[in-house]
Amino acid sequence: MTAAAPPPLDSLDAAITLPNGVDMPMLGFGTWQLKDPDVCVPAVRAALDAGYKHLDTALIYGNETSVGKAVKEHGRRDELFITTKLWNEHHAYDDALKGCDESLKNLGVDHVDLYLMHWPCGMDFLDAWRAMEKCLEQGKTRAIGCSNFLVPHFQKLLDEADVKPVVNQFEFHAWLQQPELLKYHDDHGIVGEAWSPLMRGHYNDIPEIGDIAEAHGKSRVQVLLRWVLQRGLVTIPRSSKPDHIRANAEVFDFALTDDQMNTLNGLDQNKRLGGDPMTLGT
Ligand SMILES: NC(=O)c1ccc[n+]([C@@H]2O[C@H](COP(=O)([O-])OP(=O)(O)OC[C@H]3O[C@@H](n4cnc5c(N)ncnc54)[C@H](OP(=O)(O)O)[C@@H]3O)[C@@H](O)[C@H]2O)c1
Repeated sequence: MTAAAPPPLDSLDAAITLPNGVDMPMLGFGTWQLKDPDVCVPAVRAALDAGYKHLDTALIYGNETSVGKAVKEHGRRDELFITTKLWNEHHAYDDALKGCDESLKNLGVDHVDLYLMHWPCGMDFLDAWRAMEKCLEQGKTRAIGCSNFLVPHFQKLLDEADVKPVVNQFEFHAWLQQPELLKYHDDHGIVGEAWSPLMRGHYNDIPEIGDIAEAHGKSRVQVLLRWVLQRGLVTIPRSSKPDHIRANAEVFDFALTDDQMNTLNGLDQNKRLGGDPMTLGT
């Protein structure tokens, strides 16, 4: 199975169709570290007011209740795509079922659109996956997928799973492009979703990004987001600031040339800024 073609990147409504037919907006809003409700609720509201349709949270972020509050205030849950994630302590079958219920309760919704396993935790994920398949069957989520899975994890999961994962949310930015994993996604119809697209601020250290930004009259952040989207990946930048949140959505009115794409593609250093999926949670 090969991955679906990415949609035209013309607005915040641009969505890729997952292999199970569910549409997933290409640009979403990340909420890691937005733990304080006084920061998180207004930030999510600002994202929704700016037209974002896709929110990314996780049980471990401790902010599902705030995300749910902002969604409720917004009032149009049906227009939104909400992702949350199963935490590592909940990999036993019954714990995973309870973890999903806890997230739905926190969010104040009867289902999410995507439920991800947050980390593979070594190779100890089959019971949790079975529980996630159950959550899907019960209508508690419209799709199930993985986060931080690498090729060896997928090889084990795809051998055993009744329902194949439709998404992998993984670290991807100019310094970590993971070509082997991207090829595996493409070969198996898995949609890639980039976390930490803004490199924890390191884009300021890379002159090529500044040159491309100047050529388009855009910011470095906007260039990075556009590059990730043109690579065919979904992405979920996070910000606590309404002006940043709005600016991060202004990436649909320009396009990077092939040369500019190649320049950014050439910045890969195989350098992680976050945890290593082979060791984290083991
Ligand atoms: N599955 C996983 O294991 C995993 C791991 C990490 C992240 N994630 C998800 O991916 C999302 C994004 O990753 P991330 O949170 O690590 O980092 P990120 O989105 O790459 O970067 C966030 C940082 O960029 C700054 N920023 C955002 N917009 C900006 C702008 N226009 N100008 C200047 N600075 C800007 C933010 O500061 P301000 O608040 O000041 O704007 C914040 O410090 C997370 O929030 C989470 O939802 C998932």
